[in-house]
Amino acid sequence: MLHIGDFTPANPVILAPMAGVTDTVFRRLAIEFGCGMVWGEMVSARAVVHGNQRSMEMLEIAPEERPMAIQLFGSDPGTMAEAARIAETFRPEVLDINMGCPTPKIVKNGEGAALMRDPNLAGRVVEAVATATVLPVTVKMRKGWDAGSVNAVEVAKTVEAAGAKAITVHGRTREAFYSGRADWGIIREVKEQAGIPVIGNGDMDSPQAAKAMLDETGCDGVMVGRAALGNPWLLKRIVHYLGTGELLPPPTPAERFLLAERHLEMIVAHKGEYIGVREMRKHAAWYVKGLAGASRAKEAINRATTAGMMRAILRTMAEEFGAP
Ligand SMILES: Cc1cc2nc3c(=O)[nH]c(=O)nc-3n(C[C@H](O)[C@H](O)[C@H](O)COP(=O)(O)O)c2cc1C
Repeated sequence: MLHIGDFTPANPVILAPMAGVTDTVFRRLAIEFGCGMVWGEMVSARAVVHGNQRSMEMLEIAPEERPMAIQLFGSDPGTMAEAARIAETFRPEVLDINMGCPTPKIVKNGEGAALMRDPNLAGRVVEAVATATVLPVTVKMRKGWDAGSVNAVEVAKTVEAAGAKAITVHGRTREAFYSGRADWGIIREVKEQAGIPVIGNGDMDSPQAAKAMLDETGCDGVMVGRAALGNPWLLKRIVHYLGTGELLPPPTPAERFLLAERHLEMIVAHKGEYIGVREMRKHAAWYVKGLAGASRAKEAINRATTAGMMRAILRTMAEEFGAP
């Protein structure tokens, strides 16, 4: 059972935050497919404090995407505290602090993974946020900055002392970005040394991998990122396997195209046809990944400029694969 402060999700399987991907539509699908909770895309604390419209919209939480964590990024304790007070009014179940984002644009400001280079500041940020809100505050971090400065255990202890209620550890350094295999050993080390729950993250692409993560690291929850793209069934299959030991079959090709079609309808309903169709291209590519005819489908999808064109392609493909 994963407890994050007073909050206990129905199961320990969590959708990872992925900026530009795990928007409200994808989060709704993840909840529909049974995961215990979802994490929102990272939101700039500074932008929230300035009332930036797009950032404020990113804090909104529909009933269909709960339970959800809002994730803030920033490195100034005062700004983070102020943003936390604002985020709290949207009533997320959890408030998370990003200490893992590797992109140059973020780390050059001392934010994201750069906070791991300054554990003292990381602690002050957590303390300021935990004092500002009644929500359980958590931290999502990496293994360290680079191979020469692996300090996840130190940062975990620091943020725990500062009031964090759980920690997610992605078993890669900032230097590694998303390359190579995630190191689950560091997740075990953090679990052994921290007194708060630990959520393991990195490379879980099957129900068996999620079970292995829990068994090998002793972690309390699992957070699934890239492998869930175009494949929300994975979340359901993990939850089912962890609960029963039984492996549900993966989706059929027809099911994949049919869900892609529904995803299209949802994204167009939320973002309008112009943005929806363009954003759907990457999701559609993930839904068809690995299928016979995938590159033909992708080419056609990328040429589609209206929802009607894209719907027709997805429907035809679904029927080719035997959908009624
Ligand atoms: C496109 C993309 C966007 C991401 N955005 C965020 C983010 O906003 N906040 C965050 O903490 N991690 C972010 N991550 C990292 C993931 O949450 C996760 O830690 C990482 O992908 C490793 O898990 P995986 O191997 O299951 O994908 C992002 C990853 C990707 C691929």
